[in-house]
Amino acid sequence: MAKIRASIIGGSGYTGGDLLRLLLIHPEVEVKSVSSERNKGMPVTKVHPNLRAITQLEFVEAAKIDTDVDVMFLCTPHGAAVKLVEQYMEKGMKIIDLSADFRLHDAKDYDRWYGHAHSRPELLEKFVYGMPELHREEIKKASYVASPGCLSTSAILALAPAVAAGLVDLDRIVVDSKIGSSAGGASGNPSTHHPERAGSVRAYKPTGHRHSAEVEQELGELAGGKKVTVSLSPHAIELVRGIFTTAHCFLLKQGLKDVDLWKTYRKFYKDSPFVRLVKEKQGIHRYPEPKLVMGTNFCDVGFELDSNAPRLVLMSAIDNLVKGSGGQAIQSMNLMFGLDEKTGLWFPGMHPV
Ligand SMILES: NC(=O)c1ccc[n+]([C@@H]2O[C@H](COP(=O)([O-])OP(=O)(O)OC[C@H]3O[C@@H](n4cnc5c(N)ncnc54)[C@H](OP(=O)(O)O)[C@@H]3O)[C@@H](O)[C@H]2O)c1
Repeated sequence: MAKIRASIIGGSGYTGGDLLRLLLIHPEVEVKSVSSERNKGMPVTKVHPNLRAITQLEFVEAAKIDTDVDVMFLCTPHGAAVKLVEQYMEKGMKIIDLSADFRLHDAKDYDRWYGHAHSRPELLEKFVYGMPELHREEIKKASYVASPGCLSTSAILALAPAVAAGLVDLDRIVVDSKIGSSAGGASGNPSTHHPERAGSVRAYKPTGHRHSAEVEQELGELAGGKKVTVSLSPHAIELVRGIFTTAHCFLLKQGLKDVDLWKTYRKFYKDSPFVRLVKEKQGIHRYPEPKLVMGTNFCDVGFELDSNAPRLVLMSAIDNLVKGSGGQAIQSMNLMFGLDEKTGLWFPGMHPV
């Protein structure tokens, strides 16, 4: 089979850079071109020095991106992809957008959560939400995929089996996430400035975070169309990469045991190689930890029942730049092109880091 030809719009950013790292070693992919307006004409390795000796590509401006490709990845800030996609759709390639522009099915949710009307609402139905663990069969048939947000990925994968099995109160799901600074992108802002970030634990959007919309959308589908309310509060911490999410849920039935949860979670993720269930009785690594998934496409998920209250505590850990963005996008690409979803992504993290 000929290799999959791919181009990346927004390749100088953090998601674009990590996507490129993974695509360059993917055995079935040839990266044709990578865009950056600010760095056009410069070697990609000037911006991503970790790729020295791995690529000789140079950045091109977006208008000169190679469109004679099988798939275009869009790694642009919110609001840019919606202006770009149609020219690529017309050329017949598959598109994977890593921004939020096409993740929500209902255009009204953009008014509510993003504070503006969606400029091309008729395009929303063309995109499949790119989480293979939930939409594997749709992704296989899709031409256009909207890859999930990083916080949303960690929340949804922790909660999905419990919600789908009807174990928890759908009105009271509280998600507390700790997130690393690379989630804010490469351009930097006061929150990611080293003296402000170092040593800090900072609540930055205790209510109303935009990713709540996709979490509620996806969990609502798993709950058979019932309304799900998710109260999401992310905290900026000193990590560069990584998200640790704790979801607090309240049980609908009494008497639920560990063994029931093991069965529920194992069954839900039996065909999902990148979700590892982590709940051990001893040692320091009993639950998921961002360090142990760093650089990988794994999402580790754990749980604990509260013996003092009808509470189920769910935990997950991902690398926001891999399972939370580029890795998950490649997982979708693999499915869209009939490959094993593990292709180019099946490697462990490092220990210790
Ligand atoms: N960071 C994460 O953990 C993460 C995870 C999941 C999803 N995402 C989403 O992925 C997208 C990119 O995030 P990021 O963190 O990689 O941001 P970033 O580091 O700021 O990179 C943005 C990239 O987009 C390019 N760009 C900006 N405006 C453009 C335009 N109008 N047309 C073409 N290219 C443009 C920039 O190129 P120049 O060099 O020309 O400025 C740069 O390469 C965002 O939508 C974000 O929400 C991020």
